[in-house]
Amino acid sequence: MSLSVSIFGLGYVGSVSAACFASMGHKVIGVDVSRAKVEMLDSGRSPIVEARVGELIAEANQACRLHATINATQAVLDSDVSFVCVGTPSLRNGKLDLSHIEHVAREIGAAIREKKSPHVFVLRSTVLPGTTETVVLPILEKESGKQSGRDFTVCYNPEFMREGSAVADFLQPPYTILGARDSSHLTPLRELYKNTPGTLYETAIPVAEMVKYFSNCYHALKVGFANEMGTMCKHLGVDAQAVTKIFTSDTKLNISPAYLSPGFAFGGSCLPKDLRAIAYKAKELDLKLPLLESLMPSNAEHVDRAVEMVLGTGKKKISQLGLSFKAGTDDLRESPQVQLIKRLMGEGLEVRIWDEDVSLGRLAGSNRQYIEEVIPHIGSVLSADLEGVLRGAEVVIIGNKSVDRDTLSKLLRPDQTVIDLVHLDKDRRPDRTGVYEGICW
Ligand SMILES: NC(=O)c1ccc[n+]([C@@H]2O[C@H](COP(=O)([O-])OP(=O)(O)OC[C@H]3O[C@@H](n4cnc5c(N)ncnc54)[C@H](O)[C@@H]3O)[C@@H](O)[C@H]2O)c1
Repeated sequence: MSLSVSIFGLGYVGSVSAACFASMGHKVIGVDVSRAKVEMLDSGRSPIVEARVGELIAEANQACRLHATINATQAVLDSDVSFVCVGTPSLRNGKLDLSHIEHVAREIGAAIREKKSPHVFVLRSTVLPGTTETVVLPILEKESGKQSGRDFTVCYNPEFMREGSAVADFLQPPYTILGARDSSHLTPLRELYKNTPGTLYETAIPVAEMVKYFSNCYHALKVGFANEMGTMCKHLGVDAQAVTKIFTSDTKLNISPAYLSPGFAFGGSCLPKDLRAIAYKAKELDLKLPLLESLMPSNAEHVDRAVEMVLGTGKKKISQLGLSFKAGTDDLRESPQVQLIKRLMGEGLEVRIWDEDVSLGRLAGSNRQYIEEVIPHIGSVLSADLEGVLRGAEVVIIGNKSVDRDTLSKLLRPDQTVIDLVHLDKDRRPDRTGVYEGICW
């Protein structure tokens, strides 16, 4: 089944989308406020310089599947679905300028007022979560005098193409993300993307909006990281390419979902120490590596957030399950869980701790000495009796992944607030009806 699609904004995203949807056999109408771009597309020429776009546009235009107009109303009346690909540039202060989107939403809303059949509005521009539902949707309802979900539908479909390989990225994306309030709103989009390879995710609109920022911020982070580490390599006389090649070949820890689950601060005997060593070496070499230097302060900020979260409950009796930086070890060096406990004690809260790997009775050698000499106040509230530790608690902090789901399900009460620092997988979480939250999820 071929659909009729209008595309608002004939810049990079809009021109590529128009060319590719038309090449898939759909009827496409391009819309722009720029007469020059409209004239180019309408005469079969590409408004942008991008590989393969020119030929796809010329072919589709000749086959009468692609034309362009500056008449927004006519484009909506003549199409089933409108994709909005207008720019969302930065204002001087960094805030997103939504004026182009708001303008198009008013135009499309006014056109929907005149339209007899239902229309699908799809936002493709990059916008912060909440924009589609709290900015765009109300404008559409106001201008159309109609109700979203009944008379027309609103979806969000982020674009992941890269300029330079945009057509290939469009036709073979890693995945397609469709956001809607109700999956029934996505029927025409499923049809449009039915031959597109890669996983198709159907999700909530704010999730679809946020995936784009999660991705782009991560890409920026990767570039910054590679450049800073490469700079360090060069100044140490190390072959950065050889290091990168070996590093990226590890798909277990390095190029993988490992360390990418929003949870608690990092700690232990290696990461903080090694980061400090690199930051110190950078100073010796007169190098500025702001990204790497920002990681320890970022981590400390996360411990602050945990303290604020516990204090925010207004409760005084706190039990923490897990004291070492991860399950299965008694190593307490630079454990952020220990830092958290110290801060909570400093706030005058009544704290109790259970950790099966760190009970004083079992500890020997350096770790016993560490507790007795460096954190004796923590040693005094440490217990091996899980039931006893949980009994009096108003807030239970899950500090590492050693907790057993069934035992916890039995011992926790619905009136207790659970703060899960480590983001346990759903199937490992205790069954419960009370509050269950993380710091950053
Ligand atoms: N360029 C990319 O590689 C890329 C990739 C993914 C997502 N995005 C996002 O997609 C959006 C569009 O990016 P772009 O690079 O294509 O922008 P662009 O600036 O190249 O194109 C925007 C187009 O919208 C037109 N426009 C503005 N107001 C209009 C209106 N009222 N009616 C019709 N057309 C109007 C402009 O004239 C322009 O042609 C942005 O939110 C961007 O962040 C861009």
